[in-house]
Amino acid sequence: MLIQLKNISKHFIQGQNKIEVLKNINLTIAEGEFVAIQGSSGSGKSTLLHILGLLDTPSSGSYLLQGKDVSLLNDDELSNLRNSLLGFVFQSFYLIPYVSALDNVLLPGLYSKTPRSQLEHRARELLAQLGLKDRMKFKPNQLSGGQQQRVALARALINDPAIILADEPTGQLDSRTSQEILLLLKKIHEQGKTIILVTHDPATANCAKRTIHIEDGEVNVLSA
Ligand SMILES: Nc1ncnc2c1ncn2[C@@H]1O[C@H](COP(=O)(O)OP(=O)(O)OP(=O)(O)O)[C@@H](O)[C@H]1O
Ligand SMILES: [Mg+2]
Repeated sequence: MLIQLKNISKHFIQGQNKIEVLKNINLTIAEGEFVAIQGSSGSGKSTLLHILGLLDTPSSGSYLLQGKDVSLLNDDELSNLRNSLLGFVFQSFYLIPYVSALDNVLLPGLYSKTPRSQLEHRARELLAQLGLKDRMKFKPNQLSGGQQQRVALARALINDPAIILADEPTGQLDSRTSQEILLLLKKIHEQGKTIILVTHDPATANCAKRTIHIEDGEVNVLSA
């Protein structure tokens, strides 16, 4: 099993208050799945995705990634795993404003051992595949929202990760552009990647093969 969460809970302490955000979550995701995590605003989707993406740690419970308990890994092992296995896409694209589309895509590759020339070749190929052949030298503010999100998708793919984690990737886009991005995610899934798509929108969740519903920090057992 690619991903296995057992009794995952997450709380935040704020002053005297303990805020329980995730409650005893059990779920498994197999390699090659396209899963949506759907729930209303504040239900805990991003918190869950951050744990899945090794950006945050649970307060209790265990997370097995490729069968390995991630709580046993040190910081170096975690960042290596984050870089090689996981690709992230967010609602507000988080591109670096002062460098080109090409350099934005290249950047996460520079932490790997792949030579720069090879990375650049791959970045150009990815941007071309995503329809941005004539936009490689453009900076983010010279691109439309949909184009920026395609750059972010190319960036997520640069290290050829097995898993793509997308948090409301169409949240800032109009409906036509959203459809384009969702189609690209489908295509990426068909090329063999595991996709985990977080959304509040049931219609967006429909493009996944399976939907996990989260409500008030709890996952419906039937959908897990
Ligand atoms: N660092 C934090 N400290 C305290 N509370 C937090 C923290 N991070 C998240 N929360 C709380 O956890 C709950 C879930 O937040 P989360 O961001 O996971 O929701 P979400 O489902 O992604 O919502 P949205 O659809 O609006 O993005 C919210 O009530 C939020 O206030
Ligand atoms: Mg969120």
